Amino acid sequence: MRHQGHIAVVTGGAQGIGAGIVEVLHKNGAKVAIIDRQRDKALKLSCDISGDDGAITVIEADISDKPGCEYALQQVIDRFGAVDILVNNAALARNKDYIGKLSDSDWADQSKLTIEAVTNLSEIALPYLQRSKCPAIVNVSSVTATKIAQNQASWPYHVSKAGLEQLTRYLAVKLGQSNIRVNAVAPGLVDRSEGVKLTDFKSNQQVISHVVPLNRVATASDIGEAVSFLSSQEASFITGQVLVVDGGMGIAEVFGAGLSILESLDFSN
Ligand SMILES: NC(=O)c1ccc[n+]([C@@H]2O[C@H](COP(=O)([O-])OP(=O)(O)OC[C@H]3O[C@@H](n4cnc5c(N)ncnc54)[C@H](O)[C@@H]3O)[C@@H](O)[C@H]2O)c1
Repeated sequence: MRHQGHIAVVTGGAQGIGAGIVEVLHKNGAKVAIIDRQRDKALKLSCDISGDDGAITVIEADISDKPGCEYALQQVIDRFGAVDILVNNAALARNKDYIGKLSDSDWADQSKLTIEAVTNLSEIALPYLQRSKCPAIVNVSSVTATKIAQNQASWPYHVSKAGLEQLTRYLAVKLGQSNIRVNAVAPGLVDRSEGVKLTDFKSNQQVISHVVPLNRVATASDIGEAVSFLSSQEASFITGQVLVVDGGMGIAEVFGAGLSILESLDFSN
């Protein structure tokens, strides 16, 4: 119960990784405010996790602009009266297969959540975090912040996550004077609880077994546990860091892994 008495805010907590973060923070004693556009989905999650004990509250809001962020944070304060932990998890990807195809509005959309909402929510939450005994911000980045492949249409997302990691370091330096720690987690491959899963495809499983030393993808709870640690007092002297949660995928030597995948392929039919 490392978060007993703490108020946590999780953006994009209605599904996927955000839902895993909500679940772990709640399990560890936090009261959690889910900020999400998907009210019904968030309400169902809240009910599944905590029934109607009031430990999880749902705030339906669109945080893609500053008024939306202000509204959402005010709702948190009205319901819980404080913020100890801010988890900036909501994100989207604008995929374009070449730089020339990305419009100005694609760029704006790409950075609205990953950069602007994180900046806005951190600023709006600041007076409350300053009053907290255990303030922490955790941003959800991605291993794609430092990786890229040829023909990767998700490159704008990678660029925005790289920006988010630098924003994390800036905020850590700036807010350290107020004893507010700011870190990020960088998930690798994740199978969320809904939708098409990476592991639904046999070819993906084969690749995973060659490039992920722990031989599986992460669950949303794996990421939730890392977020919970970084926002807890056990991480009280850790700030400005990016914790990679990828089952060791990042240490795989690309050429060797590629060769071993090729060697495992059966070309006989
Ligand atoms: N899924 C992966 O494999 C993976 C890997 C690495 C990093 N990540 C990162 O993890 C985070 C969560 O990823 P996911 O796959 O679970 O995402 P997801 O798309 O499944 O969920 C995102 C949630 O954010 C909410 N949301 C989107 N825009 C919003 C807005 N403007 N205002 C309020 N809520 C909004 C959505 O309603 C949704 O509930 C993201 O930051 C993503 O970049 C994901």
